[in-house]
Amino acid sequence: MTTEDHLTFRQFMLREHRRVGVPKDLIFLLEDIATACRTISHKIRSGAFAGTLGATDDTNVQGETQKELDVIANDQFMMHCANTSRVAALVSEELDNVVWLKDKAEAGDYIVYFDPLDGSSNLELNISVGSIFSIVELKEALPELTDEAVLIAGSEQICAGYSLYGPSTSLVITTGHGVNGFTHLNGSGEFLLTFPDMTVPATTQEYAINASRQKYWEAPVARYVDECLQGKDGPRGKKFNMRWVASMVAEVHRILTRGGVFLYPRDSDNAAMGGRLRLLYEASPMAFIIEQAGGKASVGGARIMDVAPTELHQRVPVILGSAEEVDLLDQYHSE
Ligand code: AHG
Ligand code: MN
Ligand code: MN
Repeated sequence: MTTEDHLTFRQFMLREHRRVGVPKDLIFLLEDIATACRTISHKIRSGAFAGTLGATDDTNVQGETQKELDVIANDQFMMHCANTSRVAALVSEELDNVVWLKDKAEAGDYIVYFDPLDGSSNLELNISVGSIFSIVELKEALPELTDEAVLIAGSEQICAGYSLYGPSTSLVITTGHGVNGFTHLNGSGEFLLTFPDMTVPATTQEYAINASRQKYWEAPVARYVDECLQGKDGPRGKKFNMRWVASMVAEVHRILTRGGVFLYPRDSDNAAMGGRLRLLYEASPMAFIIEQAGGKASVGGARIMDVAPTELHQRVPVILGSAEEVDLLDQYHSE
């Protein structure tokens, strides 16, 4: 197979337009997001020369130190997402409030939510990081342009995706008709369809959790991990492997490629905040992608996509991946 054998991102999206009616405006917006991701990828790769891998003196609304590249990536998303006149508002991990791009938000307008750089603690280490985004289409005009107006459940997403800045740059998207993965062909400016119809195998022998938090775990998670650790002789009757990249984008990409389960659960240390990962621009888009690929995504007893958001930067527990494992964890949470 040569690169000519792969559909370009635009060819694929136009095929989806004809096949399932993906709107042209959404395609334009996705092309803008792809441009943002391509530029971010380049900025990361040249970060050691530009001196941008480290921290700024600023903190974001969540009290986390911003890396220079967090800010650079946010600027790229802000700039490129503003091209399409249908985008009414932007919500970013790096911005305190919603940024309104229009005076009025009409039915059919888009809200774009994003984590411009996920896993940014890995930047100096040259370990994979990514960007995550989610798009909601307004069902009706908004009476007021407030932060509360964009608190919309994940089940309303029309599109979600991420870009993974690893040894190659991937772009993985769903518009609610399965999950497709593209790889940036260096030098061409094109993302080519390299991983069509990505699926999450229902069974797995691999899990991902930050095990340094063990002393804080709640009973269902402690039980699950303990049973995995018992291996062949334990109740699971098989050996498990463990992985933790500390970049959710990389973990989700691994799960989409060979299965697995990822947990960032609520624990006694993060319970007051609701969990670790943010609902609107981390958990919800990844939940949509994983479900579209045949996996499951839960807060522990309930679907992530059904959580009704109450705050812009709300955090939730995240358990996602192979259906069998998520089902088992849900069962342990309900017992
Ligand atoms: P961000 O860099 O956007 O703040 O998010 C990092 C997230 C996620 O990617 C990862 O799974 C998790 O934080 C890592 O947490 P630990 O530092 O507890 O391992
Ligand atoms: Mn993140
Ligand atoms: Mn981030």
